[in-house]
Amino acid sequence: MISNTATDSAEAAALREQARMYLTPQDVVAANSRHRLISGDALIRETIAPESVDLTITSPPYNVSKAYTGDASDDAVDYAEYLDFTRRWLENCYCWTKPTGRLCVNVSLDKNKNGKQPLSSDVTQLAMDADWKYHTTIVWNEGNISRRTAWGSWMSASAPHVIAPVETIIVLYKDEWKRQRQGKNDITRDEFMEWVLGIWSFNGENGKRIGHEAPFPRELPKRCIKLFSFVGDTVFDPFVGSGTTMIEAVANDRKAIGVEKEYKYCELTLKRLRDECGLKLKPSSPEKQATSINPCWTA
Ligand SMILES: C[S@@+](CC[C@H](N)C(=O)[O-])C[C@H]1O[C@@H](n2cnc3c(N)ncnc32)[C@H](O)[C@@H]1O
Repeated sequence: MISNTATDSAEAAALREQARMYLTPQDVVAANSRHRLISGDALIRETIAPESVDLTITSPPYNVSKAYTGDASDDAVDYAEYLDFTRRWLENCYCWTKPTGRLCVNVSLDKNKNGKQPLSSDVTQLAMDADWKYHTTIVWNEGNISRRTAWGSWMSASAPHVIAPVETIIVLYKDEWKRQRQGKNDITRDEFMEWVLGIWSFNGENGKRIGHEAPFPRELPKRCIKLFSFVGDTVFDPFVGSGTTMIEAVANDRKAIGVEKEYKYCELTLKRLRDECGLKLKPSSPEKQATSINPCWTA
């Protein structure tokens, strides 16, 4: 009798083999590039090559009416539909990740807008359903307590609104947590001591200053990169937004790959990479730029 584990890994291998057949010209063009930004969709498996990522750090849309597309209702779908979207990108990330790879997902603990939901808990469960293994959840206190205005029933047990103003960083991995092959570390003693205590306190980012609806601060990917990856590893963000993960990857001598659906945010990422890291990505294929189908920039 074949054990579950053997069956699972045979299925996983077949899936990986299947995914390999979907390599796009974009992958071939960019195969040797160090950094890559793709104007694409995290739901499309062919967007990047399988098993090409060491560490993914991402903050997906939370389904709380952010106007990424210019229309806030695009980020306010039925919760079941949102969970299906979440399941699909988590499965893709699993395929794109090397066997030794890891995933850090930043979401709010709870979703308090458009109906309360245990967001972090649901994303964790969906990730585990997609075969990701659970390591831990880091709690991020982003110090936004003053933004609070909705109390529910004021000083009454009738219907008080309790809101935990924290976000989480769910940490998962693909096959094994311990990386057997050592690489070069760049974390300092003090950083390590502070960051392995999984309650992080630093301020959130000002979206207006950055020019994006919901950027996270550079501190978040910086900590994840230095804690969970070696120098030279490939760091990926399927929801790149204003490019914060790519910026920290480049600044910390990792290879950066980003995918973003909205073209205007790809342009913002290119600008931030230039302004904040001095990195100028170039269009990888003029034909693709002309047709605007999955443009890709590399360096
Ligand atoms: C929460 S924001 C990420 C912000 C990012 N962490 C930053 O620091 O700027 C989510 C991003 O995902 C993008 N997005 C939404 N659906 C997408 C999809 N299917 N594929 C790729 N990007 C998508 C949105 O346009 C938005 O920029």
